[in-house]
Amino acid sequence: MEIIVQPDSQAASRIASRIISRLIREKTRPVLGLATGNTPLQVYKELVRMHREEGLSFAGVTTFNLDEYVGLSPDHPSSFHAFMARNLFHHIDVPRESIHIPDGQAKDIPGFCRRYEEDIRSSGGIDLQVLGIGTDGHIGFNEPSSSLASRTRIKTLTAQTRRDNASSFDGEEHVPYHCITMGVGTILDSRMCLLLAFGKKKARAVAAACEGPVTAMVPASALQMHPRAVVIVDGEASSGLERADYYQWVYAHKPDWQKY
Ligand code: PGA
Repeated sequence: MEIIVQPDSQAASRIASRIISRLIREKTRPVLGLATGNTPLQVYKELVRMHREEGLSFAGVTTFNLDEYVGLSPDHPSSFHAFMARNLFHHIDVPRESIHIPDGQAKDIPGFCRRYEEDIRSSGGIDLQVLGIGTDGHIGFNEPSSSLASRTRIKTLTAQTRRDNASSFDGEEHVPYHCITMGVGTILDSRMCLLLAFGKKKARAVAAACEGPVTAMVPASALQMHPRAVVIVDGEASSGLERADYYQWVYAHKPDWQKY
């Protein structure tokens, strides 16, 4: 696991955007795994800026989003479909048919989830998966106790996650109870994982994920088993890390050829 501590979320998001844009420029048909939530917003803004000002084209990119609420239509303003359209897809040149987001209205949810996994496989697999982390240590919507081998499936959100996400809805009572999410196993199959976390309220989850034991009770800790997981945090989110000084030392002494 490479842990990069940055002074603030802007600096952290700039590094993440550089990693993503380099992949898009260097690979012929890159496959991106994308996340929703507040955390990746600055990254999406920066990618849109690079598209407008620096000619970064998404024409050859395929995307797979991590998750979606069950029961929400794609045009529901709180759906992750709408979030992605608003914050990224409407502003770049990714072809409509290259975008994949779990269908919250699927009639046959297990069948849909199997096809989602097949689609990821037949696209060649995810090159880079962008991740946030829940205050409870979830990645995607893999809540504590999720199997670390899990695949795309329906999950029930914890009370904590429903509270955390209530601000995107007209009150907590409107937050759905269920979601479709890529599994931890699906995420671990990505060739690179890039987890971002900002703010004091993520400090505990970040410390548990990076320095605690690998456990289903902190699904993000499964990234310790991934050969190429990069965690980029701001100062506040790093405040629970015992070895933060060491991670900063390592980053400061990275060989030039290895810098992002
Ligand atoms: P956030 O959500 O980016 O809105 O903090 C992260 C998550 O729940 O994975």
